[in-house]
Amino acid sequence: MAKITKLDDIVSLCKRRGFIFQSSEIYGGLASCYDYGPLGVELKNNVKKAWWKTVVQMRDDVVGLDCSILMHPMVWKASGHADKFADLIVECKKCNTRTRVDHLKDHCEEHTAHIAIDSALASAPELSNKVCPNCGSVGNFTEPMPFQLMFETQMGANVDDAMTMYLRPETAQGIFANFRNVLDTTRVKIPFGIAQIGKSFRNEVTTKAFIFRTREFEQAELEFFCEPGTDEEWFEHWKKCRFEWYIGLGLKKENLRFRQHDADELAHYAKSCADVEYKFPFGSGDWQELEGIANRTDYDLRQHQRGIRTMTKWYENNRDMTKIELTDEPQDYQSGPLSYFDIEKKKRYVPYVIEPSAGIDRSALAFLVDAYDEEEVRGEKRNLLRFHHALAPIKVGVFPLVKRDGMPEIARNIYEDMKKHFNCFYDEKGAIGRRYRRQDEAGTPFCITVDGQTLEDKTVTVRKRDSMEQVRVTTDSLKSFLYDKLEV
Ligand code: GAP
Repeated sequence: MAKITKLDDIVSLCKRRGFIFQSSEIYGGLASCYDYGPLGVELKNNVKKAWWKTVVQMRDDVVGLDCSILMHPMVWKASGHADKFADLIVECKKCNTRTRVDHLKDHCEEHTAHIAIDSALASAPELSNKVCPNCGSVGNFTEPMPFQLMFETQMGANVDDAMTMYLRPETAQGIFANFRNVLDTTRVKIPFGIAQIGKSFRNEVTTKAFIFRTREFEQAELEFFCEPGTDEEWFEHWKKCRFEWYIGLGLKKENLRFRQHDADELAHYAKSCADVEYKFPFGSGDWQELEGIANRTDYDLRQHQRGIRTMTKWYENNRDMTKIELTDEPQDYQSGPLSYFDIEKKKRYVPYVIEPSAGIDRSALAFLVDAYDEEEVRGEKRNLLRFHHALAPIKVGVFPLVKRDGMPEIARNIYEDMKKHFNCFYDEKGAIGRRYRRQDEAGTPFCITVDGQTLEDKTVTVRKRDSMEQVRVTTDSLKSFLYDKLEV
């Protein structure tokens, strides 16, 4: 039977099996915010672990970081987010619904970076034939206007020291702000990268498709610092690495591709950008961005050098960044506080940056979609998630065939032993076939069953999720058998 790839199937499975719930559901739900349930949090943690392993652990040239979500407001002034991180929107004059201009014609496409607002404002978009996605009204819009995407909040209890803060819209800036700290406290030498996984927040105008575009989400970002002139080479290097990461974790090659950004959709910091796109099963089955790989040049470090120089104005203006302009860059910016000195080449410069920026939630959705399968087995429908072993929330199910003859005790012992090594699930309720099906649906790659033969020869049945093949393994060799197969 052909695989069904409708988003509805995934959403329903996620709810039914406790992968993902709507946030605040008991109060009617909060739009575009989601909670990860018991299976979902394992899946998400595994996606993060897999990313960290490839991007940090397995490389000698990348170190990790974990920055706070709240940062000094000047970070966002310097980075450009305070002035430019906005979507160009219009309001429908009939129903008052606001829509991103670039989403008007084909509502299912994600083709424009948020920050390409300068060019969009420069050439007024033609709206007379555009359709309001809410009420269907044609060409009935207000003039396009920018809509700030950063969430604001207040910090400080006293009027004197209170200030407006922003929830970070990307994790990257925490890395740039710590570039000097990392340089001064480790032995990194260019080329090297700093990686971070963490929450980001954007007050998105149009949210969409389950966890694809939400207002709170998790990013896995690497800022890879290199010598100017070597940036194109590293850009290609990281494009290749990141594409291979998705393939290595089981995404089907035919569902993945690259898309190079056109000049008019580049973010304000980028010289070039390529998206890894996945063929998600929503909209008209279009390709959607999974990850962006950008050449950010020396833009961010140079901007933060200007930011540091602007601090006197910040104090003079009572900590209100909306009242100040960044101080100009000096001629000798190449030797500023965020420059790098290459001892061998005896050369000081502000490094260029290549940034692979992945969405953890979006990746989790792609892994769920790609793993989802339905097949007919002996006249019955079998739902399963063919997760890569590294991503499977539960690695091993352990069952006694029946609840008698000492089988539950043996199975419990095996479970207690195995759970020291793998995430396991013990189940003795219901028919064995149903227990297998429940684990298939959770994506569990192996199920161990203690049966009558176990009592005679100390072997158990190990049943494989994908092929349903069953093999007998001695209880003594179970651990090495599973280590070998799971490669964890
Ligand atoms: N630092 C660069 C940056 O943030 P981006 O293309 O805006 O670039 C990178 O975001 C990745 O973060 C996207 O490819 C996507 O996977 C994820 N992402 C961005 N906005 C998101 C949202 N509203 N919901 C879920 N994931 C999002």
